[in-house]
Amino acid sequence: MSKRQFSPYEYLPFRGGNRRCIGLAFAQYEMKIVLATVLAQYQVSLVNKLPVRPVRRGLTLAAPAGMRMVATRQLISVIRGTRV
Ligand code: HEM
Repeated sequence: MSKRQFSPYEYLPFRGGNRRCIGLAFAQYEMKIVLATVLAQYQVSLVNKLPVRPVRRGLTLAAPAGMRMVATRQLISVIRGTRV
């Protein structure tokens, strides 16, 4: 099964057209590195185990305000001695 290709106008945080954010590629690259670095070293979980209901924020969806999470250092990163 082939994956559908998305046009640049289906992902709205950076808008589209002539005024599309020029920092788009850099910002996405940076976010992927930060997320991968954090997830490689910490296990994140919800404090409250109830299902999370996304809320509307402008045109997009976001986590509800006050959603609390706890980050626990992954054992493998302790053994390797790597730090964020
Ligand atoms: C999560 C990160 C970012 C988001 C969500 C974001 C979002 C946006 C949005 C919505 C616009 C307005 C587009 C419009 O007027 O239609 C914009 C414009 C712009 N952004 Fe970003 N941006 C981000 C990061 C960055 C970064 C890292 C840079 C520079 C290194 C940057 C530089 C600019 C510039 C210069 C404009 C004005 C473009 C123009 O007026 O033609 N942005 N950004």
